[in-house]
Amino acid sequence: MTEKILVTGGAGYIGSHTAIKLIEAGYQIVIADDLSNASPRAIDAIAEITGTKPEFVEINLTDNAAVGQLFSEHTFAAVIHFAGFKAVGESVQLPLKYYRNNLDSTINLLQAMEAHGVKDFVFSSSATVYGVPSEIPLKETSNIGAVNPYGKTKEMIESICFDLASSDASWNISLLRYFNPVGAHPSGKIGEDPTGIPNNLVPFVMQVAVGRRDSVQIFGGDWDTSDGTGVRDYIHVEDLAEGHLKALEHLKPGCSAYNLGTGQGYSVLEVVAAASKASGVEIPHEIVARRSGDIATSLADPTLANAALDWKAEKNLLEMMQDSWRWQSSNPNGFS
Ligand SMILES: NC(=O)c1ccc[n+]([C@@H]2O[C@H](COP(=O)([O-])OP(=O)(O)OC[C@H]3O[C@@H](n4cnc5c(N)ncnc54)[C@H](O)[C@@H]3O)[C@@H](O)[C@H]2O)c1
Repeated sequence: MTEKILVTGGAGYIGSHTAIKLIEAGYQIVIADDLSNASPRAIDAIAEITGTKPEFVEINLTDNAAVGQLFSEHTFAAVIHFAGFKAVGESVQLPLKYYRNNLDSTINLLQAMEAHGVKDFVFSSSATVYGVPSEIPLKETSNIGAVNPYGKTKEMIESICFDLASSDASWNISLLRYFNPVGAHPSGKIGEDPTGIPNNLVPFVMQVAVGRRDSVQIFGGDWDTSDGTGVRDYIHVEDLAEGHLKALEHLKPGCSAYNLGTGQGYSVLEVVAAASKASGVEIPHEIVARRSGDIATSLADPTLANAALDWKAEKNLLEMMQDSWRWQSSNPNGFS
């Protein structure tokens, strides 16, 4: 049997973009996803873009027996684990849903990997593990301390991975702490397709630009930033996908965490202005009260990933907005 890369959550936003990069780089992949937050049309779009239809297994990774079966039916060289729930607000309302899904699915996977001698693992962690930043920019050595159940699941999974790697030297694990992924594949055929009201700024801004929503609410205009609105480290999903390829190629013994960001911050008003420029649409927006739990600035120091993974984010804010707009304007209702 040929060795394959297992891409869990590969029908989702970041996973589908990474699947394309993997196929284009010559990897054979298997996508495992329960489609709880994705459309099967993403798999068709991957096939259309790459000319190769990836193997797709519809599976809920919290089902331990099904995960065991998946590993019996394929020989995997490595696993890239995107699958998980990711809505911070929902995790505060429904913490058990998040702990159950994100922890069970990861433990099931790691156990199946161990049982089948698969020891190369790349995990989707998040800048949320840093909680309230102890310093700006954030380094991998900065204080960890997630402040919501979603972020805590990432922090717990990181701990599990560190413990596993210290218990058995044959594991090679990379924990990728993403900052704020935005943008879409330049073809406009895949992109972020949130269900319901988008939790993240850019999908919301794009839905306003395309006429699905009236106005962008900006939470707080009195933060300690250049224009008073929150500053984040936005990273193009294409750069992020490339980061996974590099992480796979540069896996090393033990467990290492890397920040995947640009190191450049943009304010909410700068994002809205860039989205207007990219779309040619004036985007109505209003400043409202701060949201509890928000912070003024989050920014990565990506130096470690730049050096250790031979990777650097290349795309600027306007390119991020142009690609988001191409996806949103050609698919006003996403995949549906
Ligand atoms: N998008 C972001 O802003 C962001 C930032 C930091 C980290 N992350 C992490 O990156 C990963 C991918 O994020 P995304 O934005 O592509 O999210 P997404 O929701 O688009 O993708 C996650 C995929 O996992 C699948 N899934 C969820 N639970 C599953 C289960 N039990 N079994 C099988 N499949 C399951 C969903 O159907 C979905 O396709 C997630 O782990 C997320 O927490 C995302």
